[in-house]
Amino acid sequence: MRIVVPLFLSLVPLAAQAKIDFQKQIAPLLVARCIECHGPEEQEGDLRLDARAFAFLEEDRDLWTVIPGKPDESELIARIALPADDEDIMPAKGEPLTKDQQALFTKWIAEGADWPQAGDKWIADELAAQVLPKITFDLPDVSGDQQKAIAAAIAALREKGIVVQQVAADTNAVEVNMSLLRDKVTDNEIAMLRPLAPVLVWLNASRTAMTDAGAKHVGALTQLRRLNVANTKLGDKGYSAFVPLKQLEYLNAYGTGLSDDGLAIVASLPKLHKLYAWQTKISKAGVKAIRAHFERVEVDLGDYVEERLAAAKKEIAERAVRDKPVNDKCPVTDEAVDAAQFVDHEGRRVAFCCAKCKAKFQKDPAKFAAKLPAQKKGAKKK
Ligand code: HEC
Repeated sequence: MRIVVPLFLSLVPLAAQAKIDFQKQIAPLLVARCIECHGPEEQEGDLRLDARAFAFLEEDRDLWTVIPGKPDESELIARIALPADDEDIMPAKGEPLTKDQQALFTKWIAEGADWPQAGDKWIADELAAQVLPKITFDLPDVSGDQQKAIAAAIAALREKGIVVQQVAADTNAVEVNMSLLRDKVTDNEIAMLRPLAPVLVWLNASRTAMTDAGAKHVGALTQLRRLNVANTKLGDKGYSAFVPLKQLEYLNAYGTGLSDDGLAIVASLPKLHKLYAWQTKISKAGVKAIRAHFERVEVDLGDYVEERLAAAKKEIAERAVRDKPVNDKCPVTDEAVDAAQFVDHEGRRVAFCCAKCKAKFQKDPAKFAAKLPAQKKGAKKK
């Protein structure tokens, strides 16, 4: 599927600094955010981004996701620039790339998407070093009976199509992703997580149909470190059920009913240090009050997303004004103009009734200049 790239992307102001260094600036981003799904292990969407030869594999250049020199036509840029809640945004999990990271990709492609051999080697070395991530969690001991209950619960969840994975090779810590099933996941499925409490450290329940009533089951998952409940119906009442989550470090509350009241409860979780809260009911004042008490909690209200959208809309509006012809009558025939037939003449857009008139005008613009609306005073000629 091709996506239309918004024009404003090409207008992102890129500091006129040195050329992008693939190995130092692009490769680390690919490794950190893309290669897990577009690399040796998985090739989602048939795309690999772990070596030059894979990224530019298709015979037909137009099918490349990176089109050297043309960020506006590159699918990669289209995807990373989508709004945070768009289901096609890349990376397909985690936070969107920051504005700066997006700008790096854009600049890199605009400069020709240089991908040297040494970059391939750097990525390969980096991946090799990551094969067995050493993530250790201080988890409670699990009895034989508990172990059985955990295994049964994992099987039942997988049966439903819910993704349950070991977090790393050297731990029995588990992560669960329910978000892919959307509203097929109800409070009943959330309740099925309970036996996993001793080992469940990361839970993604975003976009599920979990309600405030179901949140109490999440509150029983006391080993959780990361929790994503974005775009659920949760409100303050649901969030108040998270009080037992004493290990929770990161909470994504984007697009839920969390307000300043709920924020006060969540912020008092002893280990919480990051709360993503774009499009919640939390106010700036609420965040300020919380920061005064709980300095460790960083509340990300995502304001920059709104700023970026506003800037983009402005660019588009300005472009529409610039692109509007100055005349509505053809300077050659005085007929009504066809907006698709135009030339940009002395900084203004002049439209014609047909391609023939356009050609006539281009041959000798001076001949028709008198027919055009007068230039505004002070308007600069090219
Ligand atoms: C969690 C897995 C995951 C991660 C991480 C991820 N992607 Fe994807 N990506 C997918 C899936 C699944 C598809 C196929 C479905 C689709 O097209 O949306 C895809 C498709 C794409 C496509 C479209 C391929 C095509 O030609 O149709 C592009 C481009 C892309 N990803 C770029 C990226 C980039 C760049 C990153 C890192 C910034 C990234 N992805 C990170 C899962 C992921």
